[in-house]
Amino acid sequence: MLGTRGGWQALRRCASLPRAVRLRVSEALGARESGGEVKVQGWVRSVRSQKEVLFLHINDGSSLEHLQVVADPSLENRDLTFGSAVEVQGKLVKSPHRRQNMELQAETIRVVGPCDTWTFPLKLKERHPLEYVRQFPHLRCRSNTLASLLRIRSEATAAIHSFFQDNGYVHIHTPIITSNDCEGAGELFHIEVSSLLSGPLTQFFNVPAFLTVSGQLHLEVMAGAFTHVFTFGPTFRAENSQSRRHLAEFYMVEAELSFTESLQDIMQVMEDLFKTATSTVLSKCPRDVELFHKYIAPAQKDRLEQILKHKFVTISYNEAVEILKQASQTFTFKPEWGCDLQTEHEKYLVKYCGEVPVFVINYPYDLKPFYMRDNEDGPQHTVAAVDLLVPGVGELCGGSLREERLPLLESRLQRLGITDTYQWYLDLRKYGSVPHGGFGMGFERYLQYILGVDNIKDVIPFPRFSHSCLL
Ligand code: 4AD
Ligand code: MG
Repeated sequence: MLGTRGGWQALRRCASLPRAVRLRVSEALGARESGGEVKVQGWVRSVRSQKEVLFLHINDGSSLEHLQVVADPSLENRDLTFGSAVEVQGKLVKSPHRRQNMELQAETIRVVGPCDTWTFPLKLKERHPLEYVRQFPHLRCRSNTLASLLRIRSEATAAIHSFFQDNGYVHIHTPIITSNDCEGAGELFHIEVSSLLSGPLTQFFNVPAFLTVSGQLHLEVMAGAFTHVFTFGPTFRAENSQSRRHLAEFYMVEAELSFTESLQDIMQVMEDLFKTATSTVLSKCPRDVELFHKYIAPAQKDRLEQILKHKFVTISYNEAVEILKQASQTFTFKPEWGCDLQTEHEKYLVKYCGEVPVFVINYPYDLKPFYMRDNEDGPQHTVAAVDLLVPGVGELCGGSLREERLPLLESRLQRLGITDTYQWYLDLRKYGSVPHGGFGMGFERYLQYILGVDNIKDVIPFPRFSHSCLL
């Protein structure tokens, strides 16, 4: 694909040649010189026929802006409608309109694929609500909002990878299929060969196998050789939830750091990741982000800019429970030391701290998975765990120091009756064990938060949740 500058240079080189240079809409809009013979392909967003001139707007997903095509009315045909796929060839010229830089004076317009506008669920010039387009996962990427979201998602993915690569982390592809349950919360999808389902009960892998709930344990293996590692892939949870912040398949960014004795070091990486990725997204796709901050979540832009300037707040779980106990508000779940923080509690804590991201640290030992490091405090026994709570979304990240001390880990696994499964994990503590820790950030929740999108189903291309697996 031609970059904007490369595309235009190519265009200039070919100006004397009869063959037109193919440009993406974003390249055509950003071109600096007129007169080149170009070809643009895309989908029609509007058709306006006047007596002496035919106007088209076309979009190919490369930008939120459409390219205006100006043509002789004789080029109109009945297949040239909203939604149709077209290839337009002509001359790129400076537009007389202030709002756009360039426009395309068409010489030929070819309808590559007509569109049945009567049955097409998207309608000309309508701003469809996200709930409406959610019904059409195969077509909603052609709406402005979803297209912007998907471009932002793509930029955010690249920004997250760059953040880790720039800071010396090695990217690891952790497996999708695994034989362990990292979180131990019983939300596993069990997998088997479909042809065996009705046949004799044979396990393909000889052991029960599941879709991964987290790449953490595999990252811990790698942190034992590379010190700083990360992964960014799909994770799966059979959560029977229709909530606006849970999916059965979601993407998680996970990092693991060796030679780390302080939870603060892990929290610093979370905060730096959030701030760096968000600043990059805001500067790389300003128009796409603006669409969300204008129409979906007004005032989110200012809030986000403030958040990027200030340090995140930290409170302990003990303090959180005290704050909740003293709240004038009554909760459905009474706040008690030893109980998990519910959505209503998270919401209150974030509000109490001024609607900013809040780290909650040192959770009760009995609430958290086997791998978290024992703080050996008491009588309120805690582990070195951290959750990052953010306004409107709740828990964005979860992390901890890991139990690197063999005797403590052994006795915990024994009490849970899972020592056999985790022999290999114990090995990591026998052969050059180091203090280490890490975290996971839900990518969809991240997008929800920065863009102010209410429902998680609207920030992933193909949402999977209980009772729904469309396409
Ligand atoms: O807090 P969680 O369960 O942490 C872990 O899985 C750790 N093993 C990660 C690690 O330390 N490497 O999940 C991490 C984050 C949550 O904070 C949340 O943002 C997101 O993943 N998440 C979900 N996002 C969408 N749908 C779900 N069902 C989610 N469950 C968790
Ligand atoms: Mg968690």
